[in-house]
This record gives sequence, structure tokens and C-alpha cells, in this order.
Amino acid sequence: MMDRLDILGRPDIERLVNAFYTKVRADEPLGHVFDGIAKVNWETHLPKLYNFWDTVLFRAGTFRGNPIAAHMKLIEHADLSWPMFERWLVLFRSTVDELFAGENAGHIIRCAEDMAQVIHSKIHAIPNPRFNPERLTPEQKARYASYRESPQEP
Ligand code: HEM
Repeated sequence: MMDRLDILGRPDIERLVNAFYTKVRADEPLGHVFDGIAKVNWETHLPKLYNFWDTVLFRAGTFRGNPIAAHMKLIEHADLSWPMFERWLVLFRSTVDELFAGENAGHIIRCAEDMAQVIHSKIHAIPNPRFNPERLTPEQKARYASYRESPQEP
């Protein structure tokens, strides 16, 4: 059996993202959202996702985008129910596990799980118990209040 190494840098991120979206496109319901409905331009979308995960894992700071808005604009046209997110996660976990093993591999899966929850609850305006205002600590309340006061980016 081939020994799997951890995700160590940008080339590994690119390998992971390429393998993952190959699976996504081959999956009937998910592939339909990307290629049938959103008609994603893969030449520009893949580099954007390299930058996204490179920034999540290695703080590359190269991602420019708005994932909530990108998925929000799809809800009228596509099935973005939780089972679709779960399907996305199953493919993501299996791609990571096939290619890599280690701390970063575990971390990127947990990040994807958290972000799937956040994107799903935001686009459907479903309150997520993890962000229930009643459960915030005083420190979180102060921090969130300061976000609201700071100028919004367009
Ligand atoms: C049901 C599951 C999902 C579907 C069907 C889906 C589909 C899409 C589509 C069609 C786009 C837009 C591409 C474009 O307009 O060019 C997009 C963008 C994106 N998605 Fe997803 N997505 C899903 C879940 C996720 C999850 C869980 C994450 C993160 C962990 C994610 C990360 C992103 C990012 C970073 C972008 C680019 C956003 C931007 O342009 O600013 N997606 N997604």
C-alpha cells in the first residue's frame, strides 16, 4: 500500500482540489448543479478554490471571494438542501482520505464540515445553535459588536 503523506503545501492543495472536483462533476446531482445550472468556468473556478484552501490551511491570503453570496444566488435554481451538502462532504472526505493522512488532512475535513454547516444555515436563514446569541460568551459579544461597528466591505 502507498504511504500517504500529509497535505504539505500548495501543490498538494491543487492535487486535492483537482481530484475532488473530478468526483463532484461525475456525481449526478452535484455535477448537475455545477455544470448544468451554474455552468461553472473551471479554468477560473479551480484556481479560486486553490487560493481558498491554501488560505484556510496555510494562511496564503490569496482568496478573494464571498462564498455565502456565491451559494445564496444558487438557492432559487438548485437543490441546496442539507443532503446535498452531506453528499459534497462525503466526496470531500473520501478524496482527502485517498490522497493524504495527517494533521492537515484531518483539519481540512473539519474546516469543510464547519463551513458546510455555516453556508447551509446562512443561505436558508436557519439559526445555527453554535451561533445562538444567548450562548455567546461576554468576550464573543464584545468582539461581534466591534465587527458591526467596523465599516463593511462591499
Ligand atoms: C451542496 C453543496 C455545494 C454546492 C452544490 C456548491 C456549488 C457551488 C457553485 C455552483 C459555486 C459557484 C461557482 C461560480 O459561480 O463560478 C460555488 C462556489 C464556491 N464554493 Fe461551493 N458548493 C457547495 C458546498 C460548498 C462547501 C461546503 C464549501 C466550503 C467548504 C464550498 C466552497 C465554495 C467556494 C470557496 C466557492 C467560491 C466562492 C466565490 O466565488 O467567492 N462550497 N459552489
